[in-house]
Amino acid sequence: MLITLVTIFPEMFPGPLAHSLTGKSLGKLWELKIINMRDFAPDKHKKVDDTPYGGGAGMVMKPDVVHNALKYALSFYDKPPKIIFMSPRGYVFSNQTAKELSKNQNGMIILCGRYEGIDQRVIDHWRKHHKLQEVSIGDYVLFGGEIPAMVVIESCLRFIPGIMGNSESVNDESFVLDLLEYSQYTKPAIWKEYNVPSVLLSGDHEKIASWRIAQSKQITQEVRPDLWKRFISRK
Ligand code: ADE
Repeated sequence: MLITLVTIFPEMFPGPLAHSLTGKSLGKLWELKIINMRDFAPDKHKKVDDTPYGGGAGMVMKPDVVHNALKYALSFYDKPPKIIFMSPRGYVFSNQTAKELSKNQNGMIILCGRYEGIDQRVIDHWRKHHKLQEVSIGDYVLFGGEIPAMVVIESCLRFIPGIMGNSESVNDESFVLDLLEYSQYTKPAIWKEYNVPSVLLSGDHEKIASWRIAQSKQITQEVRPDLWKRFISRK
C-alpha cells in the first residue's frame, strides 16, 4: 500500500512511523512517499500562503500550490487512491473509518493543512472530482494536519494483514466490539500491595474469557456511557 503525504513539513515524516511494527514493515508491506508543497510554489520566495480575503488572523494556503502538489501525488497511482484532507472541520475518525480506508488496496494520499486553512476552492474541486474526504481526529485543534495524519496512518496500518505481530489482537481490542479492552497483567503475580486477579492464574480459559468480557463491560459502562449505549442497543 502506497501512502503519500502532502505537507509543508516533510521533515516530520516518517517520525514515529519509522519505529515499532509500522517501522519494521515500512518498505515491505507499505510505502511512504512525502511531497513538499513548497516545491510547487511558483515564485522564487516559495510562498505557499497568503492573507485571507475578508480579513482576519493568520494565513491561508494558496489553491494553485495545493492543487499542483495533489496532482503530482496522484501521478504515482495507477488506480484512484483514497484522498484525505486532515482538518478539524472533517468527519470524526474512528476505528471503523480506519478499517474502511485500509480496505482500499490502491492506498491513499493525505493532505496536511497548516495555518488558518486551505483555500476552500481547492478542497471543493478535489471533493467533486476525486472524492476527497475531510477527516478530523477529534474535537480539538492542532497547529496542522501532520500529527493527525500519523494517527490515521498508524490506525489504518493495523488492519493491513501481516503488520500486526499477533493478528488476533486487532480484533480483540478496544472499539472493535464497542467495548473498551479488559485490563492486562504480567509477572510478578504480586507487585507492591497489588495481586493479579486470581482467575487469571487459574488456567481455566472459559472462566478467564468470561471474566474479561465482564471487565470490558464494567469499564465501558463507567468510562464511556456513549459506547455502552451503542453496545446494548446493537443486541
Ligand atoms: N488539523 C488541526 N486540528 C486537526 C484535527 N483535530 N484533526 C485533523 N486535522 C487537524
